[in-house]
Amino acid sequence: MDELLNIVTVGHVDHGKSTVIGRLLADAGALPKGKLESIRENCRRNSKPFEYAFLLDALKNEQAQGITIDTARCFFKTDKRSYIIIDAPGHIEFLKNMVTGASRAEAALLVIDASHGVEENTRRHGYFLSVLGIRQVSVLINKMDLANYDERVYRDICSDCRTFLEKINISPDSFIPVSGMEGDNIAIRSERMPWYKGPTVLEQMDSFATIAEPEQLPLRMPVQGVYKFTGGGDSRRIVAGSIDSGTVRAGDKIVFYPSGKKTTVKSLEVFNAEVPDHFAAGQAAGFTMNEQIFVRRGEIACLESEKAPHVGVRLRANIFWLGRQNFSADRKYYLKCGTAKVEMHLEHIERIVNASNLSCQLRQYVEKNEAAECVLRLDRPIAFDLAGDIDQTSRFVIVDNYEIAGGGIITEAMNEYDYDTRNIRWSGAGLSAEDRSRITGKKGLVVWMTGLSGSGKTTIAEETERRLLEEGYPAFVLDGDKLRHGLCSDLGFSDADRAENIRRAAETAKLFRDSGAVVIVTLISPFRSARESARKIVSGDFMETYVKANLETCINRDPKKLYKKALSGEIRSFTGIDSPYEAPESPDLLLDTERWNEEECVETLIGAIKSRLLGR
Ligand code: ADX
Repeated sequence: MDELLNIVTVGHVDHGKSTVIGRLLADAGALPKGKLESIRENCRRNSKPFEYAFLLDALKNEQAQGITIDTARCFFKTDKRSYIIIDAPGHIEFLKNMVTGASRAEAALLVIDASHGVEENTRRHGYFLSVLGIRQVSVLINKMDLANYDERVYRDICSDCRTFLEKINISPDSFIPVSGMEGDNIAIRSERMPWYKGPTVLEQMDSFATIAEPEQLPLRMPVQGVYKFTGGGDSRRIVAGSIDSGTVRAGDKIVFYPSGKKTTVKSLEVFNAEVPDHFAAGQAAGFTMNEQIFVRRGEIACLESEKAPHVGVRLRANIFWLGRQNFSADRKYYLKCGTAKVEMHLEHIERIVNASNLSCQLRQYVEKNEAAECVLRLDRPIAFDLAGDIDQTSRFVIVDNYEIAGGGIITEAMNEYDYDTRNIRWSGAGLSAEDRSRITGKKGLVVWMTGLSGSGKTTIAEETERRLLEEGYPAFVLDGDKLRHGLCSDLGFSDADRAENIRRAAETAKLFRDSGAVVIVTLISPFRSARESARKIVSGDFMETYVKANLETCINRDPKKLYKKALSGEIRSFTGIDSPYEAPESPDLLLDTERWNEEECVETLIGAIKSRLLGR
């Protein structure tokens, strides 16, 4: 059979996707003879300027030799192989089919307009790609003709784009400067960009790998059941199931996962038919074993000589949710993968992509028709593969209350179970914050709030904490006043004591942060130098937030009646009165409590926190 590769094109409508594809069809010689000319002629007759973007429309519903185009798909042939190009930016069906593994694209072309660069829309499409779980990606920087074929423009966009995509675990195979309009680097190498040495779009497409045929892959035979022969005195058992991938024959050494039990295939068995030489992917199979070991439904039979599947209880997965009730952490579900069915909980959501507008959100539940990257925890280990390696055994469905409410593909085995020793391979000792975050899927952050007494730090912090907790974020307020009653009760308000107070708070915040919490520290922290050393102690994931209100306002508010006491000399070294406050010159975030109400400040802060956690 002719080799076929599915490629999805993503990118903002105005960034020239159709022009690029139209040009590709024309320049790769995929169009029927005379078609291009007749479309040009048609345009001329209707006094319309010809555009390559029209090609797709003009060819729609046409089934000429070697090319078929319908609303969202375009099938064509090149010298090397056949392609299906799928244009499905926001189609719910497409996202659903991809994420549940019902259909697939092996590679993606992300089209960016050189005059716009990486903007919100590109990010959306990046998230979309990451949820689709596609590993082969090429970025096409289009409309280079409008950017004077300038290498600098290309390089700047490449570097912006790479930085962003790396954060969402996509590393593109190439960044190609193209002009769909003029045809540069689509199928024909551009002479106007001699500085570019990489592949053209067509060369890149030809070098994307196709996924191997199931039969060529390692054996995966999920056990459907184990049946006894009923004949007189026959003690043999038949292991039965459908083969997802690979082949099996008599004499093969088998390992069952997750149990790790081993045996040899004694004989292949079929009901009422001639016994074949081997069973292969797609067939229902049965075999007897030399060793009478106990295996059960849900295990996967594999060959000892081939690559083993993963075995574990925690998975990173891309899911598509169809359930009427939201997918959330507080409920129990069942996950079905192959013939295994195990109890499952949603542990954490990394990213949610809304299927209709591709907007990316951060919250801890998934609504109907949304796709999400998440971490799932199972009650007991199962055997599975990763999406892109073996299709069937990396797919699962989620059952909510006896109904299929979602489906997905497994993208990462988070901490694997070692079936030989029954030990979890990672050790709890000495995990770095990164290890921990990789395992839990939770990222920590220190929000360091500085501002005068009475500026509103605690009020904003506590409301923010409450809302983040409600959304499933492990948030925690480290409040200055509370610390001073416990951990720092030996300290006063001299410059040295304040510095020590801040040092302790920073060290504590760092520990909380490393545990994966969003720590909101509320300390006057009046000295710039002390705040800088706090930033150093926390080292990374630190957001200095200036809660701003001028002294007069704070004196008027005086919630604790301390300004009154300070002004009357009853207490000394009070910040703002007889001890200085050095306002931050360029805080990471400014919350002006004189101009914004509490709600606005909380909203702004939560927005900033989520952006930081998303890595933007
Ligand atoms: S810091 O300067 O070391 O950052 P911190 O935020 O811990 O100060 O403590 C400030 C709180 O302590 C104020 O909100 C106030 O309630 C109380 N306090 C008591 N005495 C003083 C003082 N002299 N200066 C500032 N705050 C004081």
